[in-house]
Order: sequence, then C-alpha cells, then structure tokens
Amino acid sequence: MRKQIAAANWKMNLGFQQGEKLLDEILGAKIELAPDQLTLFAVPFPYLLMARSAVGEEQNYYVAAQNCYHKKSGAFTGEVSVEMLHSIGVTYCIVGHSERREYFSESNQVLAEKVNLCLGSFITPIFCCGEALTIREQGTQNEFVATQLRESLFHLEADKITQIIIAYEPIWAIGTGKTATTRQAQEMHAHLRSIIAGQYGQDIADKISILYGGSVKASNAIELFACPDVDGGLVGGASLVAAEFIEIIQALKE
Ligand code: PGA
Repeated sequence: MRKQIAAANWKMNLGFQQGEKLLDEILGAKIELAPDQLTLFAVPFPYLLMARSAVGEEQNYYVAAQNCYHKKSGAFTGEVSVEMLHSIGVTYCIVGHSERREYFSESNQVLAEKVNLCLGSFITPIFCCGEALTIREQGTQNEFVATQLRESLFHLEADKITQIIIAYEPIWAIGTGKTATTRQAQEMHAHLRSIIAGQYGQDIADKISILYGGSVKASNAIELFACPDVDGGLVGGASLVAAEFIEIIQALKE
C-alpha cells in the first residue's frame, strides 16, 4: 500500500513566531495518522530545527527542506547541502519545484544530481514535475512531464526509484486559485504511473506516491485525494492557515 501524504510547502512565508504558532495549532489538533499516512512540513531552512522539535516523536509527522544544493560540499556561499540537512535529522526534501526551475534555472540534469545526493544521505526527494499553461494549451503536457521524469529519475535503479515521492504540479494551477479538475489530475497521475511502469514495471509504479499540487484547499482536497492515482497533495497557500491544513490532513482519511 503506497503512502498517502499531506505535504505543506510554506515557501518563503511566515516569520519565525508565526511558523511556531502555525505548527502548534496544526499539531495541537492531534490528528492520528494511519501507518500509511504521512504529514510533512516543508519549512524555510532557518526553521527546520524548530519544526523538528515541534513535531518531536509525533507518529508519521516529519519535516522537509524546500531545496538543497546539487554539490556535496565546498565553496558555494549561501547554499545548503544534503549532508547538512541529514546532520540535523531532516529526512525529506522538495526537489525541482517549478519556482526553482523557473527563477533559478534548475535543469532536469541538475535535479538528477540533487536526487542522487538526497538518496545518498537518506533523504527522500519529493520530486516535482508539471507543465506550464502554454504546454497544456498545445496539448503536449504528457510528453513534457515524461521528459522531466526520464531526465531526472530514470537513471535510478528500481530499489531507489521506490524511495522517491513525485509531486505533479501544473504550473498554471500553482498559487492561482485555479485547481486542475479531478479528471485532469487523475489523467496525468495515471499517465505518470504508466511511464514509470513502462520503465520499471507495474509493481514498482504502484508503490510510488504521486501527490497533486496546485491550489489544493480544504474545499477540494477530499475530491482530489479520492482519485485512484492521487496519493495526497503538496500544498502551498492553504498550508499557511491552520484550519485549512488540518482539514487537508483529515482528507487523507476519507
Ligand atoms: P499552492 O502551491 O497550493 O499555493 O498553489 C503549491 C505548491 O507550489 O507547492
């Protein structure tokens, strides 16, 4: 049974105290998760240790980094390595968010290096893929995401690919309030799973969690998570509001 996941992506939002308060409120709701359910908080780097201690020993709640550098160590002023993340007990990291691809020109090749470094340091990559509006309008989104997967992930051995979480985030739905319809989400998730099955076999494809991201809210989470190939969500804006994110975590149970 693959994991069902509610992942918060705070991006570059919230002051430290606001972050502490938000975690306090969400964790205070004491939502018990089943063994195959996870809640992740991808917080800014300076908040990782605070978030780790807030989450404590809470079952199936973990902290994630939003990014890492694609080199092991060295003279890269201002960057954060996966070994640094590992050394403070971080076990998940978002890799290749569309905002990083767009504003920091991260290529599929650089993301492959990040994926390798994460896996080498016991960090689970949450690998993001997804197409821009122009690509969707041309109708070439299936080939586009297939290339993203192929160039960043398909060098991995079968035992490594099962350690990856994938997040499908259509860029036109991120922060726009415009969610993909459940049909669009399900179709793309099934497509992603079939590409993985083509490369690694159906058994392996069935083990990989594929999250949907792009304007997930309390009001649409149940419907989206009910799609057979949608295994939860990567949530930006709505993860900054305690009541919203609490409902999104609860939607995993529906
Ligand atoms: P959004 O962001 O929920 O605000 O659309 C999702 C994401 O970018 O991870």
